[in-house]
Amino acid sequence: MQYKLHIYSDAERTARAVAELILEKALTKEKEGKKLNLAVSGGSTPKMLFTLMGEEFEKLIPWNSVRFFWVDERCVEPKNTESNFGMTYDALLQRTFIPGENIYRIKGEDFPSDEAERYQKVLWEVLPAKNNYPVFDLILIGMGEDGHTASIFPYNMNELLNSEFSVEVSKHPESGQKRITLTGGTLCNAEQIVVLVNGSSKADLIKIIVNKENEAKFLPIAHILNSKGTLDFYLDEDAAKGLE
Ligand code: 6PG
Repeated sequence: MQYKLHIYSDAERTARAVAELILEKALTKEKEGKKLNLAVSGGSTPKMLFTLMGEEFEKLIPWNSVRFFWVDERCVEPKNTESNFGMTYDALLQRTFIPGENIYRIKGEDFPSDEAERYQKVLWEVLPAKNNYPVFDLILIGMGEDGHTASIFPYNMNELLNSEFSVEVSKHPESGQKRITLTGGTLCNAEQIVVLVNGSSKADLIKIIVNKENEAKFLPIAHILNSKGTLDFYLDEDAAKGLE
């Protein structure tokens, strides 16, 4: 599959480019009288993006036209420092005039399998669908140092990449923390996926994804290359080091 690499000199410029992409997409949807269905990830990389969006893009983005969903959530209360919703709320949502009805959080505090089922239902109700999965306009994902994306880890990737469900329960391999995650079928069904990765600790994995098809098979993130929509990697120079 075709994908595009967008490389910037540092993490801040990379985040800014993604913020600009979200701005442009939200403005287009606003003009069309539609909503941008955006699914976001947790972790430190999106935190930087959300902080920037909250500080500099807060007045530019037509928030009424953006609906927030989550790629994955840790099974904790929203106020817990581990909560992906909590992080997004603190960095961005609390600063914006985004209507509450545009926020579709995963309830990490609820019983995981019930919540996975509920969230799947919500996606089917709210989003368009094709290929037996709901369709997001834009999904923002990151990559962990073991090649995981969303909460799809190397040890459970076969199950979660091939699941017939849109949302599943997962478990972090080291901490044992339960997670709720979009499955591979849902991720790959998006109109557009943006993979946002910074830092030299991830450069070797990026090289494998881009250049080494055989080794890449063992990395959950590499299966995003089967995506049906547009795929864009936004990398800082450290993460892109060694790419030809
Ligand atoms: C999460 C994620 C996860 C994340 C990667 C990268 O909830 O942890 O959604 O898949 O995107 O682990 O995280 P960093 O940006 O912190 O490296």
